[in-house]
Amino acid sequence: MSAPAHPDSTDLDRLHSAVKREKVDLAPESQPAPLWAMFLLMFVAIIAGAQIGGPLLGGWSFDISNPFAVANGGGDPRPGGAGAGGTLDPFALAMKKGASGYAVCGGCHQGNGGGLPGQFPPLAKSEFVLGGTERLIRITQHGLVGPVTVNGQNFNTAGGMQPFGGTMSSQDLANVLTFVRNSWGNEATMVTKDMVQKVRDEEKRASQWTAAELEPFAKKNVPGDIPAGPGATAAAAPAPAAK
Ligand code: HEC
Repeated sequence: MSAPAHPDSTDLDRLHSAVKREKVDLAPESQPAPLWAMFLLMFVAIIAGAQIGGPLLGGWSFDISNPFAVANGGGDPRPGGAGAGGTLDPFALAMKKGASGYAVCGGCHQGNGGGLPGQFPPLAKSEFVLGGTERLIRITQHGLVGPVTVNGQNFNTAGGMQPFGGTMSSQDLANVLTFVRNSWGNEATMVTKDMVQKVRDEEKRASQWTAAELEPFAKKNVPGDIPAGPGATAAAAPAPAAK
């Protein structure tokens, strides 16, 4: 016979501890619920919880939770839409993205587009902004240096303005240019990604422009600009002439 597992674990010890552990069975006839009934209840609770809780939390659908709803062409009911713009029309979307993209320019040209006297020319009411897009895109793509007169004020800031063609995508630049052309009282057509790209492709240039060099482009528009405004679509009427 093998030794007991513990010196005190005699049969009598185990019997006594068992008796001390057990509670009196108050309902000897009742049976525990079968396991399948437990699972059934859990299942019902989950479905019912989703049914009741879903609408309370604003409902759930792939449209709302799907970050690619826009790419799929689905409407995004969140205010302002998903990251890509949701249900915003092209103009509102460009203005929204352009407003945040403008942070790059705002340090110099100021949040109100007014510039700083003697240092940074204003973008508000500037003929460089409102005029030909051939010139405006070139200024931001390659930069500008040397004397320039904007709204009757002369500027000739050392170093001029650096090019943004290397650091901003055509789309980002298009959004910012649409934004500056339609803020602070400015009103002009939208600049599209294709327009920026067209200038990029045909104008390879390493040095900054001077205002004098750009004079021939002052009233030239890159084809393909579209009227600004809520109804703006890529299929809109041909570009109006530059102001
Ligand atoms: C580091 C400062 C700086 C930043 C950033 C900057 N600019 Fe400029 N910008 C200038 C200066 C300086 C001039 C004038 C250059 C000259 O004297 O020839 C200028 C000129 C211009 C002009 C032509 C004159 C006018 O006021 O209409 C436009 C248009 C313009 N900038 C747009 C932009 C846009 C759009 C951005 C952002 C993508 C931007 N700039 C970012 C400094 C800056």
